[in-house]
Amino acid sequence: MHRPDRPHPTEVYENEVKELLSRMTVEEKLGQLQQLTWTGDTGPGGGQTEEVERAARAGLLGSVLNLHGAAHTNTLQRMAVEESRLGIPLVFGLDVIHGFWTTFPIPLAQASAFDPEVVVRDAEVSAKEARSNGIRWTFSPMMDVTHEPRWGRIAESCGEDPYLNAVLAVAKTRGYQGDDLAADDRVAACAKHFVAYGGAEGGRDYNTVDVSEQRLRNHYLPPFKAAVDAGVATVMAAFNTVSGVPAHGNPHTLTGILKEEWGFDGVVVSDYTGVEELIAHGYAADGADAARLALTAGLDMEMVSTRIAGHGEQLLADGLITEERLDDAVARVLALKFALGLFDHPYTDESAAIDEPTPEARAAARDTGARSMVLLKNDGGVLPLDATSSGTIAVVGPFADHTDLHGTWAGPGCRRFPSAGLLDAVRAAAPDATVTHAGADAEAAAEAARAADVTVLAVGEEPELSGEAAVRADIALPEGQAELIAAVAATGKPFVVVLLNGRPLTIGDWVDGVPALLEAWHPGIEAGRAIADVLFGAVAPGGKLPVSFPRAVGQIPVYYNRESTGRPHDPRSDEKYVSKYLDLADGPQFVFGHGLSYTTFTTGEPVLGQPSVGVGELGDGQRIDVRVAVTNTGERTGDEVVQLYVHDPVASIAQPVRRLRGFERVTLAPGESRELTFTLGADDLGFWTNDQSGRYVIEPGAIDVYAGTSSRAEARATLTVTR
Ligand code: GLC
Repeated sequence: MHRPDRPHPTEVYENEVKELLSRMTVEEKLGQLQQLTWTGDTGPGGGQTEEVERAARAGLLGSVLNLHGAAHTNTLQRMAVEESRLGIPLVFGLDVIHGFWTTFPIPLAQASAFDPEVVVRDAEVSAKEARSNGIRWTFSPMMDVTHEPRWGRIAESCGEDPYLNAVLAVAKTRGYQGDDLAADDRVAACAKHFVAYGGAEGGRDYNTVDVSEQRLRNHYLPPFKAAVDAGVATVMAAFNTVSGVPAHGNPHTLTGILKEEWGFDGVVVSDYTGVEELIAHGYAADGADAARLALTAGLDMEMVSTRIAGHGEQLLADGLITEERLDDAVARVLALKFALGLFDHPYTDESAAIDEPTPEARAAARDTGARSMVLLKNDGGVLPLDATSSGTIAVVGPFADHTDLHGTWAGPGCRRFPSAGLLDAVRAAAPDATVTHAGADAEAAAEAARAADVTVLAVGEEPELSGEAAVRADIALPEGQAELIAAVAATGKPFVVVLLNGRPLTIGDWVDGVPALLEAWHPGIEAGRAIADVLFGAVAPGGKLPVSFPRAVGQIPVYYNRESTGRPHDPRSDEKYVSKYLDLADGPQFVFGHGLSYTTFTTGEPVLGQPSVGVGELGDGQRIDVRVAVTNTGERTGDEVVQLYVHDPVASIAQPVRRLRGFERVTLAPGESRELTFTLGADDLGFWTNDQSGRYVIEPGAIDVYAGTSSRAEARATLTVTR
C-alpha cells in the first residue's frame, strides 16, 4: 500500500505483526498463505467448502474466495476467530470487476468514456455494496494492456494504451480503497494480472507471452507501477509465461521489479491454481517444486491450489525455502488484515447489508453507460432520434429486447437484476411514437423496417462470447447478423445499428451500408435506458475507442502505438516494397481514439509553454505546459475528448509513432471555446531500454507533440530536449 504520502501498512503495523508472528507455528504461518474457494464459479474444478470450514476452525486458512453475504461470511469468520488457537480473521475476496449488485458497463466500455470519474463511480458503488456483504478484497482493477481482440479478456481491460490503462487503474484503485481500508465502504484492490497477460500469442487465453524487456517496461508495466504508487493493496500474478518464465514463478518480475525496484509491500496473490500450473508449464517438477519456485520468486498467497501449505513445512525443513521469505509473506498478509480493520472488526453488520441497487447507483450506472458509448458513424444525421416523434420506430434484432447485457465478469447482481431492455427504453423515451418490435429473423426485421420511419437494429455478442477462456478465432458478428443488417439496409429506410459486444469486431463487410453505428459494448444493468439516452440525444455521445477495430483477423495485431518500421506504407504511394497487405486496405477500420458527436469540434495547434527543456531539468521534475484550444463548431452541446500524443522520431529504441500522454473530456455549448492545458514531464519524454536491471533514458533531440481528437491527430509542435 505504498503511497508517497502514507507509510506502508507493514510499517504501521510492524509491532502487531511481529508480535503475532512470534506466536505462530510454521503450520499456522503457511495457513495464512492459503486462499480457498467456496464455489467453483470462476475456475476449473469445484468448490472447497469442506476444506474451507476445516481449515478455518484449525486456524490454517488466510482467505476465502467466492463467498459473499454478511451472514455467510460471519458464520465462517466465527470459526476462524472464535475456534482457532490464535483467532486470526479471514479476508473474503471476490471478483467485483464492474459491479456487485449494480452492474456497471464492462471495463472496456468504461475506458471508452476517457473519463476517470466514470471508473471512480463504479468502484465506489461496488465497494460499498460488496463491503456491506462481507467482501473486503476485490480482484480488480484488471490493467492488462492488450491489442488482441480475439482474447475474450479484452473486455475486462482498458484497451491498447498503457497511459489510459494507468490513469484508469489509479482512479479505480482509489475508488475501491479510498483513504482508509478499514472504512465500512471500502475494499482492498488488486492490480492484475502481473504481467503482460494481454500479450498472449494468437490471443489464445493462458498462452505464451514472449516480450522484450523494453516492451515489458514501456507497454505492459506502466499501469501496475501507477497502481503501486497509488497504494494498491494487492497484486495478482498472471497465468502466462513472461519470456519463458511463468509469471507465478518469475523472480525478475515479482521480486526484482515489483518488490525491490518499486517497493511494493502488499500481498502478491496467485491466480486460480496458478502455482500448481507451474507443473503444466514445464517449469516445476512437482507440487513441492511449484511451491518452492512460487514462494521464492515472490508470491505470497496461493489461490485454490494448496502446494505451499501442503509442502511448505518440508521445504523449510529441507532448507529449500527460507524462514525469512516465509515470514515476509505472512507479514504482508497480516499487515493487510490489520489495515482492513479485520482484527478490530472481523464481522460484518448484517443489519447494514445493502441488498439491491439504490436509485442513485442505478443512475450512476446509466450515466456511465451513456458516457461509455462511442458514435462510430452518423451519416446524414440519422441520429439523434426525435423523442417527440409520433411516427413509427422499429426496434429489431437479437438484442432488441435482451435483458442480459451485463457483460463478462458481472457480479452477483447479474443473477438477480436483469438489464433494462432496449425496446422498453425506446418506448419510454418516445412516448408518442408507435414502437414496433422484431427479433433476429431477417425477414420479420426487414418487414418492420419497411413499415417504420426509422429502425434501431441491435446486434452483437452474447456475454458468454466474452471474458476468460472465451477466445474467438473469427471476430465477425455471430452467425446471421450480417445478413440481418443487409436485409434492413435493403429496405432503403433510415436505420441505426447498435453494437453490443465485448471486443472490437471485424465489421468491414457491412459497415459501409450502415448510416449510423453506435458502439454500446455491454452496458450493464441500465443497458437499454443508457442506449436510449444516447439514441435520443438526452446524453450526447462523447466516447472514444480505447482499442483499434481491425479490418480482418488477418490484420491482427493492429494498434496505434506501433513502430514505424523501416518501410512504412504510405497509402498515397504505390510503392511495392513496403509494410502492407496485398489484399487489405491499410490501417484499422476505426482507430484508437476515434469517436463522433452530435455536434462538431475543431482543435487548435498544440502551443508549448517553452520550446526546449534540458534533460537535467526534466530529471529535476520540470514539466512543460502544452495548451490546446477546442471549439464546438456545431448546433448542439456536446462532449469532445482532446488527446495529446508524443513521438520521438530518433531514439536508441525505435519509438511508437504515437504515444498518448494526456486527454481531457470537455462539454461545450454551441460556439463555445476552451483552452486546455496539459503538461509533459520526464515520464512522458523518455523510455525504458532493454536493460534487465531497469534503465530509463531521456535522450536529447526533438520530440513531436500532437493534439487532436483521435490517434490520427496531425496538429503538431516540436519540443527540443537539450543535453
Ligand atoms: C480467474 C481469473 C482472475 C480471477 C480469479 C478468481 O481465473 O484469471 O482474474 O480474479 O480467477 O476468480
